[in-house]
Amino acid sequence: MSFPQVRMRRLRQTPSLREILNKVRIDPRNLCYPIFVDENIETPMSIESMPKIPRLPLRHVTDEVQSAMEQGVKTIILFGIPSKKDENGSRAYAVDGIVQKAIRNLKKEFGDDLVVMSDVCLCEYTVNGHCGIVKNGKIMNDQTLEILQKIAVSQAEAGADVVAPSAMMDGQVQFIRNALDDAGFNHTLIMAYSAKFASSFYGPFRDAAECAPKFGDRKSYQMGYGDADEALREMELDANEGADILMVKPALVYLDIVHLAKSKFKLPIAAYNVSGEYAMVKAAAQKGWIDERTAALELLTGIKRAGADLIITYFAKDVKKWLSQN
Ligand code: PBG
Repeated sequence: MSFPQVRMRRLRQTPSLREILNKVRIDPRNLCYPIFVDENIETPMSIESMPKIPRLPLRHVTDEVQSAMEQGVKTIILFGIPSKKDENGSRAYAVDGIVQKAIRNLKKEFGDDLVVMSDVCLCEYTVNGHCGIVKNGKIMNDQTLEILQKIAVSQAEAGADVVAPSAMMDGQVQFIRNALDDAGFNHTLIMAYSAKFASSFYGPFRDAAECAPKFGDRKSYQMGYGDADEALREMELDANEGADILMVKPALVYLDIVHLAKSKFKLPIAAYNVSGEYAMVKAAAQKGWIDERTAALELLTGIKRAGADLIITYFAKDVKKWLSQN
């Protein structure tokens, strides 16, 4: 038995050696911070299952975004909680809708220094909490497409840089691209929630955005988690329909899909580190069972290493400070 000649530990001897050879670094510039804007409240409201993430009245949104920008974050994604829900989700495409107002304010305040993204979906705006129009207990694909077009155009009119369809209706990217182009918004990007799985990890978000389905589940439109080929087909369709960015969601349980997406498509890949993934880290950290900072940095690095160019994460505002503690 001889002592080893190949010694992996040579590479790891000092912090400086480890730093100069580090291949994957998290940077707040590649993070997108989700913002919940609520038409029904006057003061910020906390979300029990998402510690530190507020529901905000319109007049607080600019300050919250400012504080994220001070932490190096250059993009946010808006979700709205309307004062009225109806069958068609009409407050989702109203000129004076809560998200449209927030977009206008943010673009006025920050211009091109901030990339404003907005979620294009119906679930926060319909009485039944589904992502599409419901007829006789079924989610109607093609009728929903026409509403998604209206939502996307109204957000682009308000000034959104990127619209992000998350309804998982077939043909949604193509329909939205056509509607945007017809309305003169050929410069507006589409980030497609392409590989969106029917996941248990959206629970806290549904509390935050009041969008849990009132009957059934989302399995007739969101994907089952046992099939990577189906995810690739979804992404291929969206790429062909004109998506500018492809998203995988959730992130942590789907790192294989992120990796496949990165190797198969030349488009930028986004991964959504969703509410349940955030809540798990927060809850365990509150109990003192894991260290929040190191755990969150490890998981964000894992998502990036798997191939995500952009990570949507509720940790976005903490990263700059955490990195400076290294
Ligand atoms: C709406 C939407 C959801 C999320 C983002 N957009 C909820 C859902 O599909 O039920 C989840 C985000 C998160 O959990 O952080 N379609």
